[in-house]
Amino acid sequence: MSLRGDYSAATADFSVEQDWGAYGAGEHALFRRLFERQSKLVPRYACPEWIDAIAGLDAGGGIPRFDLISRQLRSKTRWEIVAVPGLIPDEAFFTHLANRRFPVTVWLRKPEEFDYIVEPDVFHDFFGHVPLLFDPVYADHLHEYGKGGLKAMRLDAVKMLARLYWYTIEFGLVTTESGTRAYGAGLLSSGGELAYAVADPKPRRIDFDLDRALRTDYLIDRYQGSYFVIDSFAQLMRETAPDFAPIYARLRALPVLES
Ligand code: PHE
Ligand code: FE
Repeated sequence: MSLRGDYSAATADFSVEQDWGAYGAGEHALFRRLFERQSKLVPRYACPEWIDAIAGLDAGGGIPRFDLISRQLRSKTRWEIVAVPGLIPDEAFFTHLANRRFPVTVWLRKPEEFDYIVEPDVFHDFFGHVPLLFDPVYADHLHEYGKGGLKAMRLDAVKMLARLYWYTIEFGLVTTESGTRAYGAGLLSSGGELAYAVADPKPRRIDFDLDRALRTDYLIDRYQGSYFVIDSFAQLMRETAPDFAPIYARLRALPVLES
């Protein structure tokens, strides 16, 4: 698979300089347009933790400076952002999370990709993922996930664990006082799937079930057939706390489920 992005300057941990000064005016304007479109949707569809966090970030004016955001994050939850050229290998990704560093892609999509891109860009990574790193419980959970990823590599279970990431961190829903809301970054950064996942009658919305999430396949090129709904980040933390080694061993023998 060939990846978009310039990996030539990446260091051993796949980090790069953001080089904020190199973004053009057109890129900042495109980021702003993406930001404004999603900003109209999130009051109705995003979870309150995300809404609270974005309000404290100076991010609507253009592509944000990662160093400034990291400074805010460090003081709130001891996380920081690390700039990366694009998707990075599992081991590098898990190692960053296990050290409370969230990898954010430096490049922005092209204007013709306004509605849809396959690989994550700076808009998806920043708008979707970064605000929730300000929530202490979510932040701790993602740290645990990173450590769990390194463990899953040793147990040859990354594929199963990646499904959990997909149905929580990327496409997760949560029950709130104002009804079902999105906390998954793939939803929060999507012009179409956000409202679809939260409010359309078509998809299944399943109460979070660890075994089922670990077993459910996903498709990267269309809306999900099923979404998993947690009742709180504390539930996610609690239900993913047990040792996954025996769970992987048990689930490995069972058939994979369709989304
Ligand atoms: N508890 C999991 C394990 O023992 C690790 C993990 C934590 C996985 C949080 C996902 C989320 O492997
Ligand atoms: Fe993502």
